[in-house]
This record gives sequence, structure tokens and C-alpha cells, in this order.
Amino acid sequence: MMLLGDKFPNFTANSTEGELDFHQWLGDSWGILFSHPSDFTPVCTTELARVIALHPEFAKRNVKVIGLSCDSIASHVEWCKDIKCYAGLNDEEKFPYPIIEDHDRSIAMKLGMVDKDELDTAGMPLTARCVFIVDPNKKFRLSFLYPATTGRNFDEILRVVDSLQLTDKAKVATPVDWKVGDDCMVLPTVPEDQLNNVFPQGVTIVPLPSGKNYLRKTACPIVQ
Ligand code: BEZ
Repeated sequence: MMLLGDKFPNFTANSTEGELDFHQWLGDSWGILFSHPSDFTPVCTTELARVIALHPEFAKRNVKVIGLSCDSIASHVEWCKDIKCYAGLNDEEKFPYPIIEDHDRSIAMKLGMVDKDELDTAGMPLTARCVFIVDPNKKFRLSFLYPATTGRNFDEILRVVDSLQLTDKAKVATPVDWKVGDDCMVLPTVPEDQLNNVFPQGVTIVPLPSGKNYLRKTACPIVQ
């Protein structure tokens, strides 16, 4: 089982943009590898269209996105026309990210992306709605695993990228329902006598019955 912080396994794959080596394809970018159960299905179509709409936001954050399902490249290519139409793109516009084919489930099995309750017509398991976020050091940083009947919230995926990128640079953690610009929590590892140095913008300690002073808020740090 893959654990957060592990090196994300490399693999080679055939995609709608040709053969690729996953680590090479990532280069110095963050990466989001997301799977879907099958092509020409309604929820998947809405998800992949949403990723087209959010593609500039991912690019702004130096994040490359790549889809994966068990269907063939020929099927992906045909389906991309529907997804582009649903996303409001015209036929001439390029589909902005690749989709991997994983006919033999070798990648999905290796990465734990299959759903044993979702089977194709041959009785083979399909891929679930899995999301892996990988950082520029190829470290596995975050995952979601949803069943076929529940579409994902890609605003949430963008939100967690913002949190990962912020908390890599500043000594904060992001609280419940946080969005960029909201107050953050000072990391428990920052000692009280360093608060002024580390957070010149100030820190508010929220009093709680325990008296332990652990809930320390600060304005969202500005990081480059
Ligand atoms: C869908 O994308 O709509 C879907 C795919 C597989 C099972 C259920 C729904």
C-alpha cells in the first residue's frame, strides 16, 4: 500500500498524446492522475469537462493533469469529442490534457484504483474515481477514492492543491473549509516565543477550556 510521502511509482503508458513515462511527463510540475470508470458515461463526461474548464487554474499552479480508464485510445479519442462539446469547446480546439488507456488494468492494479463492484461486460473490474496528487519531487501527497456513482468535486481538488502548495512554504495548516485568503492555523511545532518572528502579521490565540493555547490563527501568508 502506498503511503503519503512515498515516492509515487513510475509507469509507462499509452495515452491520447502518445506513449509516456509518467515521471518524465511530469517533469518539474505537480501532477494529478485521476481515473474514471469508463468512457461515454454521464458522470465521467461531466467530470472530464470540468477538468477542461479548470485547466487554466491547474496550469497557473504548475499542475499537470492526466486521466485514466480501462477503455482504449480509440474510444478515448471518440469520447473526447463529446467531452469538448459538453465543455463548450469547438471541434478544432485541442483537448487540453491526455487520457491514459489501461486495458489490462496493469496501472490501476499497481496503484489500487480498481473498484471490485464495478465490472465491465467481460466481468473485469473497472477503475474507480481515484485522484492522486504528486509533487514536483514525485512524492505522493494526497488521494481521493470515490465510487462510480459519486462524481468528484474538482473545486475541492483545486482547493487541496492550494493548501498543499501553501503549507509547503509557510509554517501553517489550513482549517476546515479553508479557501485561499482565509485565516490559517499556526503549526503546533512553532514555539510561542517565535510567533512574532515567524508571523509578523500577528497571531490570535483562541481561548479554550483546556487552557492549552493550541488554536492559533494567523492571516493567510503570502507565498511565491
Ligand atoms: C457515470 O460516469 O455516469 C457512471 C459510470 C459507471 C457507473 C455509474 C455511473
